[in-house]
Amino acid sequence: MGKVYITDTILRDAHQSQAATRMFTDEMLAVAPILDEAGYWSIECWGGATFDTCLRFLHEDPWERLRTLKKAMPKTKLQMLLRGQNLLGYKHYADDMVDLFIKKAIENGIDVIRIFDALNDPRNFKAAMDATNKYGGWAEAAISYTTSPVHSLEYFTELACELEQMGAKSICIKDMANLLLPYDAYQLVKSIKARISVPLHIHTHNTSGTGDMTYLKAIEAGADIVDCALSPLANGTSQPCTESLVATLQGTEYDTGIDLTQLTKAAELMRPVAQRLKNDGFLSPKVLGVDINTLLYQVPGGMLSNLISQLKNAGAEDKLIQVLEEVPRVRKDFGYPPLVTPTSQIVGTQAVMNVLAGERYKMVSKESKGLLRGEYGKLPGEVNEDVRRKCIGDVPLITCRPADNIEPELPRYREEIKDLMEQEEDILSYAMFPQVAPKYFEYRRAKLYGVDGSKLDSENHIHPV
Ligand code: CO
Repeated sequence: MGKVYITDTILRDAHQSQAATRMFTDEMLAVAPILDEAGYWSIECWGGATFDTCLRFLHEDPWERLRTLKKAMPKTKLQMLLRGQNLLGYKHYADDMVDLFIKKAIENGIDVIRIFDALNDPRNFKAAMDATNKYGGWAEAAISYTTSPVHSLEYFTELACELEQMGAKSICIKDMANLLLPYDAYQLVKSIKARISVPLHIHTHNTSGTGDMTYLKAIEAGADIVDCALSPLANGTSQPCTESLVATLQGTEYDTGIDLTQLTKAAELMRPVAQRLKNDGFLSPKVLGVDINTLLYQVPGGMLSNLISQLKNAGAEDKLIQVLEEVPRVRKDFGYPPLVTPTSQIVGTQAVMNVLAGERYKMVSKESKGLLRGEYGKLPGEVNEDVRRKCIGDVPLITCRPADNIEPELPRYREEIKDLMEQEEDILSYAMFPQVAPKYFEYRRAKLYGVDGSKLDSENHIHPV
């Protein structure tokens, strides 16, 4: 018990969850010096979507952004979110890629690497955690929170212990889908804190309006650090508001020590940015209201909108309820994976296929087959063997750490991108976003060397700010 620390997500999850990750580096720089003085435990500013959006839509180099932010915020730990062996991409990479990525992330300014795995398979954390420790970073292991018959208090507590033993400097409960309710949070934090000695960090969203209460109960149970967002992009699908929590804890044994006037200054600078995002159509007031669908259907908000758009494309919008009922059945058949990238897409798409085909597992996606085969790691619960046979037949299962089957990849990626490379980091951008990165590199080359840039396709236009 004692002082509570805050990670502010305004530069990553907040605009990712509310505004399609469209904040420019220049907009971040305006507020960075004030954020740096605020006394946060860390500032989250980098991750898969911010990286992708930089290259795809904003015409910025994500590595350059990181270097610039580090210069602007030298006092505060910068934090990123990493999908374990998938890094910032959607597949497992070889260990040499994981090692290089983490080396470069730390060299360019990242201090804390929050590592998670969609299946919570500790083997998929290992290479990333070892590299983070090797290069002097702070390895935070994040447990993807979900509810199911196998995801008990004991399950999460044992997992937290295992991740601590593997070298995690802190443990995070990552409630990406806003399923962690206040009293469950209390029990979960109590149970984990009784067994680990490193700090415990909680991450939730406020989609269903329960986030602040979840933090308060988690703090009363001994949570050390919580993720909040500065008010201009707080609440709704984003994190609970920083200022509200700081005020709530002021003068108590949990006092954050953060000066509210400093936060007010930062919020004043961020408000025009939120307004710009609204004006450009990226921030809809809809994401700010309370929406309890995520609790009713146990699916993350992003997944729900994906399902709706898949059904729309198939002209089957009337099947939404059937699909929402099929999601938990598919999840059960697949051994209860938590629903987070990429498993949320895999389970969701399979549920849509099952409903549209009129027969379950008549159509099976390549990704569903991969998941059932063990390509993503060990599924948390028992897999329905009839379903597995119907989907993949007698194909041998992968029971080792999936990345053990991947040969070193660095030489190949380096060779493929050598003509467009300006820095070693470009190999990593290319490996993770092989379609998008080369287009950005060509744009950058045109800008650097004054070559005619008219080759850019229409969706790659520069934003007129
Ligand atoms: Co989140």
